[in-house]
Amino acid sequence: MKISIIGAGNVGGLLAGRIIDSDLADVVLIDIKENLAKAKAADISDSLYFSKSSKKIFATSDFSQVKDSSIVVITAGFPRKPGMSREDLITKNANLLKDISSQIKPLLEDQIVIIVTNPLDLMAYYFKKLTNIDSKKLIAMGSNLDLARFANLIAEKFNVNINDIAPVVIASHGTEMLPIERLSRISKKPLTELISDEEIADLSRKTIERGAQIVSLYESGSAYFAPSAAILEIIRAIIKDEKKIIYASVYLNGEYGLKDICLGVPIKIGKSGIEQIVDIKLNNKEKLKLLASAESVKSLITKLPSD
Ligand code: NAI
Ligand code: 2OP
Repeated sequence: MKISIIGAGNVGGLLAGRIIDSDLADVVLIDIKENLAKAKAADISDSLYFSKSSKKIFATSDFSQVKDSSIVVITAGFPRKPGMSREDLITKNANLLKDISSQIKPLLEDQIVIIVTNPLDLMAYYFKKLTNIDSKKLIAMGSNLDLARFANLIAEKFNVNINDIAPVVIASHGTEMLPIERLSRISKKPLTELISDEEIADLSRKTIERGAQIVSLYESGSAYFAPSAAILEIIRAIIKDEKKIIYASVYLNGEYGLKDICLGVPIKIGKSGIEQIVDIKLNNKEKLKLLASAESVKSLITKLPSD
């Protein structure tokens, strides 16, 4: 099993290390900055002595490696700087994705592609349009990170074990993301029964702002520890055929009443990719918020470069 990671920056590099450390698959790190990719591959392989991993990593700027990879992760792209929204990255990252897509489209057969580049939902949609990839093979990582942040903030605030928290966050990986407090649970009890409306609103707001908070602390670049862990969970579910429910942005064709858009929803993942888009029962208020989030993503589609 081989995984290609396109973009050996902060997220791609750390993800490569996590995959090797977990002994999950061989990794090819691909970057236009070939030396950066080579440096990270050499550094990661020097840790094999400690991790005892049997897997191999190598680096290149040659996209042909995508051909016999089972999974391709796209972590190439400009991260935001303090004060920027994810949407401020549209033009630069869409052009970059267009270039990458033109190179890998002829090489795509059965590979599962995981998009990470921001603005996430829009880039996943654009990749679908550029490559016409089977929707079941296209997973964009956003909500999985958002719900991990929600869980962490809940655990910190109430001093509970994070493993007892089952968070639900859907919709866009942006300011219109939607923590569903009614369906999020601590020790199987709904959050709405355990804490006040004010506390819930505060936790949701902090979850939505978490990415920007980290960007402002780093002063240059965005989060990569939790993002790479969130991607790894998806990769593990694929490789081990876990049939696990994970939240990710996927191409919707009528599900949740939404068509021709990529947005974060629960999906069942196995070795062939998305096995099911899981329908969670939203109340009317939640449905309206999901619709508003979808509208905010749709309104940006016109900003994508035309062919
Ligand atoms: P980074 O700047 O550390 O790394 C990006 C890498 O992409 C660089 O090494 C660059 O040389 C490479 N690259 C640029 N153009 C390329 C091309 N045409 N082919 C191959 N490689 C190319 O950025 P970082 O922090 O790794 O973030 C990468 C992207 O992921 C950003 O767009 C960021 O916003 C996004 N991101 C998304 C998250 C999510 O939850 N969906 C979480 C974290 C980051
Ligand atoms: C985040 O939420 C950059 O989208 C990334 O941290």
